[in-house]
Amino acid sequence: MTDKPDITSLFEPRTVAVVGASHNPEKIGYKIVENIIACGYAGRICPINPEGGEILKLPVYKNVGDVDGEIDVAVITIPSKYVYDAVKACADKGVKYSLIISSGFSEVGDYESEKKIVSCAQEGGMRIIGPNIFGMYVAKSSFNATFGTRDVRPGGIAIITQSGALGISLMGKTAVMNIGLSGMFSLGNKSDVDESDLLEYLITDDSTRIIMMYVEGVKNGGRLVELLKKATSKKPVIVIKAGRSKRGAMAAASHTGSLAGSDAVFSDIMKQCGVIRAESIQEALDACKYISNSPQPKGENSVIITNGGGMGVMAADACEKYSVNLYDNIEDLKRTFSKVVPAFGSVKNPVDLTGQATLENYKTAIDAALANKDIHTVICLGCETAFFDASKIAEMIKGLYSNSKPAKPLVYSFFGGARIEDCITSLKAVDIPAFSDVYEAVSCMGVLYENYRNTAYATESDQKEEQGIDDPSIDVIVKKALGEGRHFLLSYEAEKVMAAAGIRMPKSFLAKDFDEAVKFAEKIGYPVALKVVSKDIIHKSDAGGVALNLENRQEVLDAYQVILYNCKKAKPDAVIEGVSVSEMMKKEIETIAGAVRDKSFGPVVMYGLGGVYVEILNDVAFRSFPLGRKDILKMINETKSSQLLMGARGEKRKDVGSVVDAVSKLGTILARHEEISEIEINPLMVYEDGQGVMAPDVRILLSKGPEAK
Ligand code: ACO
Repeated sequence: MTDKPDITSLFEPRTVAVVGASHNPEKIGYKIVENIIACGYAGRICPINPEGGEILKLPVYKNVGDVDGEIDVAVITIPSKYVYDAVKACADKGVKYSLIISSGFSEVGDYESEKKIVSCAQEGGMRIIGPNIFGMYVAKSSFNATFGTRDVRPGGIAIITQSGALGISLMGKTAVMNIGLSGMFSLGNKSDVDESDLLEYLITDDSTRIIMMYVEGVKNGGRLVELLKKATSKKPVIVIKAGRSKRGAMAAASHTGSLAGSDAVFSDIMKQCGVIRAESIQEALDACKYISNSPQPKGENSVIITNGGGMGVMAADACEKYSVNLYDNIEDLKRTFSKVVPAFGSVKNPVDLTGQATLENYKTAIDAALANKDIHTVICLGCETAFFDASKIAEMIKGLYSNSKPAKPLVYSFFGGARIEDCITSLKAVDIPAFSDVYEAVSCMGVLYENYRNTAYATESDQKEEQGIDDPSIDVIVKKALGEGRHFLLSYEAEKVMAAAGIRMPKSFLAKDFDEAVKFAEKIGYPVALKVVSKDIIHKSDAGGVALNLENRQEVLDAYQVILYNCKKAKPDAVIEGVSVSEMMKKEIETIAGAVRDKSFGPVVMYGLGGVYVEILNDVAFRSFPLGRKDILKMINETKSSQLLMGARGEKRKDVGSVVDAVSKLGTILARHEEISEIEINPLMVYEDGQGVMAPDVRILLSKGPEAK
């Protein structure tokens, strides 16, 4: 395998070959050549077609090998069955990147041919984009090697898309929405080049100010996380992930041949990376537009100015939904707005100018908000009334932007008849965010704040902790279980893993007879619990194999006999190894902590509210691992139940530090022991500050092992 080519050759190619350039204007191979020429590409274009001749006045080469000089990019647009030979010819020629337009590979189940072309390319040091793509567009080199529209608007937004159909239509849609593109990249089956490769370039590309990605499935999640974190520290990244619903995930998986991961994991990991997640294409495009056209907020205080109480209340609700903080310094609000709010209005936020508000009143109120340094953003609302001429609002608002744009973000929502609608259209035409729906206006402010928080509170470098874990002991336990053909650890094995990681479990000893049971109970201290130990009895309580809260010697003796009697009766052929005597745990806050090997992102840790209702309450958060303490704390704080740890209802604060330790240890075990696929502690009891955590029950699953793959 040769070194990977410099990615600059892909973004700024000097020579491009089109393999399958067609003489027929109705074919993709013709349209691509036509687009490359029409969009003003200044490099050399070499059409390749066995018939030779001319296409669009360009001399045609019969073979890619006939081209003199280097080729940076080859666009391959011939039927799939001929693609391998074309890839081989390109690799032999030393082409650096091949964009394979052709469909008919892994997306229709032909993984073999796709693998073959990738390894052939790799051997020749060439990289593949696709197959199953519509091509790519790069504004700075005027390179439109797509069969999409030519009406692309150059600008600052780079779009990376796994779906070709979506991307190709976005080329036109963005132009209509006045959104300029720095690039449009179709990834298709992602057989080689993926989002991460492109991000690596786009992070440092000055012409790209915002990155938008449409993702169906992630293959190398660990690398993507690293690059997204780097990217968001420099510029906003907006991601639309398809496959949220179970049905959608199935469609996405069959569509691209890659499996869509669990949506909850994806969503939380995007948050971890500081990415803005959009629900739909429209939302993502809107977000790109607001962020690129608006100044950044300088603080969290937002003010709603309205002439209608109801509209103001709706906007306040929307602010809560989209995490927009309403300014509540009543004295300052009074000072700022009392000159324009009549006695029967309200200077509380929402600031209600009342139904009698004129355009002049609006202007005064907006100017006052802009002049107050403690007000950082403004949401301006209006219901159509007889007190102002609706056809003049747009003029008044545009006036605010006439000299220079206001230094603070403003969004507008107006509701009424035809004149109001005209006003909104005319404001939108000059990129002023105006809407008829209050929620749309506030969601736009929400996106600005999401982006603001991502940069203002960007993840400071968070030291990853080295956990003191006895890895050799864990290896021995895991190997033994796999050797016995098991893909789970027995409870005493899982206990040993916890001991190796220093996660406290209730003290426990295996007693083989009455005397030992009493001896251990006295060693631990009463009360104690007795549980049957047998590989043949999985549901111990159902078999009558558990006795809790035993207070003294006599109760232990009685319970021992009852347990043996019950279990023999329930399962006469069970081999009983003995009875475990363990410490009775104090009940406290029941949380859940876990680590799982995600098929896209690798080790992922989880924290949330534990106990038997964990699935119903679904109050859990995920993070990609490795992770520092601060990030684990952020993950804990994301759950609603984190308030219980902080000391709800006058209770004492719980030992959050020990929860962080436990989560970090679980992640470390998974990261260091590839054969472990899942660890779950439920419940993880959390005691008062300084008293640590306790893991009464641990479940450890193993992957199938190399021989079973
Ligand atoms: N080297 C060079 N040229 C060749 C070779 C070769 N090895 N083999 C064939 N050609 C020429 C052909 O002679 C033809 O030229 P001509 O029209 O002048 O005779 C040209 O290349 C094209 O070959 P055709 O056999 O005519 O193939 P056609 O154009 O019908 O289809 C295509 C090729 C477009 C790649 C098709 O197989 C395909 O995969 N289509 C789907 C593309 C797609 O949708 N991709 C995903 C995009 S994303 C989205 O959904 C929008």
